[in-house]
Amino acid sequence: MTRPTPAVRDRVLSLSSAELPAYIYDLGALRIHAATVRGALPEQVELYYAAKANPEPEILTALGPYVDGYEVASGGELAHVGKAVAGRPLAFGGPGKTPDEIIAALEQGVERFHVESRHELLMLAGLARRVAPGRRVAVLPRVNLPMADDLLAGSSLSMGGRPTPFGMDPARAEPMIRQLADGAFPQLELRGVHAHLASGLEAAEQVAVAGSVVSWATGLGVRLGEVNVGGGMYVDYGDPERRFDWAAYGTGLARLTERHPRLTLRIEPGRALTAYCGWYATEVLDVKHSHGEEFAVVRGGTHHLRTPATKGHDQPCSVLPVDAWPHPWPRPAAESERITLAGQLCTPKDVLARRVPAAALRAGDRVAFALAGAYAWNISHHDFLMHPRPGFHFLDATA
Ligand SMILES: Cc1ncc(COP(=O)(O)O)c(C=O)c1O
Repeated sequence: MTRPTPAVRDRVLSLSSAELPAYIYDLGALRIHAATVRGALPEQVELYYAAKANPEPEILTALGPYVDGYEVASGGELAHVGKAVAGRPLAFGGPGKTPDEIIAALEQGVERFHVESRHELLMLAGLARRVAPGRRVAVLPRVNLPMADDLLAGSSLSMGGRPTPFGMDPARAEPMIRQLADGAFPQLELRGVHAHLASGLEAAEQVAVAGSVVSWATGLGVRLGEVNVGGGMYVDYGDPERRFDWAAYGTGLARLTERHPRLTLRIEPGRALTAYCGWYATEVLDVKHSHGEEFAVVRGGTHHLRTPATKGHDQPCSVLPVDAWPHPWPRPAAESERITLAGQLCTPKDVLARRVPAAALRAGDRVAFALAGAYAWNISHHDFLMHPRPGFHFLDATA
């Protein structure tokens, strides 16, 4: 899915210049991918989608048949996802939950709370008494578990096994879990344990992480129904064809569930579910030479697609040549083999991809940046420089 799918390509080429840039999502491709992911996982494994990766209602809905629920990490996501996919199970995670957010979650009847600290547990217990008297509230304390053998060293974003604001050290989580199991908080039901330790891990590493979390949780000697081992399956922006090995991951998780037949395992990926279904499409405005390098300036930029700037990669892309040049002035064209693709912002950081092989690139040609379906538009600084916002297109052959 690195090159635009035929439907996306047709849409990119059919839009006028004024309709670019645009985010174009192939929902059919998303469904096929999500079905493959679901099919690779054992039945005993629940799949939640981490909505923070891309909370567009069309994306949440398209994923509906393949996921068991959604992980939300703010009051905003809670309200938004609760409306977009009403009635589906939600797990409310994230550090620094406010009293208002917890009240909203209790009123909304959120199925699970991922508890990040002792303070949060006490706040939840107090608010549950007030807002939801008589109702049992399911909690999963979040643990920041160290991993053996530098398991997280290769991750792109590690939030576990080292000092972070996420979850609790095992020495703090354990007494909380025991207290909950002993009924110290009568309204709170200990449902299980949650851990999300890193992003960008390969299947074998993810299996090892899941094994460590499960063995820590089950080793506590407390009855736990669920262990959520988080998301963080890698997406390789440098080599987009190299995909997370869901089959190997599913096989590894199956071995784990065989050893713990009464335990529900849950995973909550975001990026690896939706990254591949989205493209950010734009057109080349100008081609320039600067100190021995060639630059193409495209409509839009990293204020719409911040992913390459935050992660420090070149966003994979394809050039879609356009023959027509409707203007009376000359058409700028590249003279070298490799061109750096920059946006319209007044900062040298506004680079989408460096030294892309794009010989003969001309103003007016279209460029489709791939892997733009996750942590793309929704993490970008849209208002910087007040350029127009992109269009949004959700292509759905099956709808
Ligand atoms: C608690 C939690 N779960 C799941 C995810 C999803 O991670 P990814 O998109 O890397 O799969 C994140 C991402 O930050 C997270 O913080």
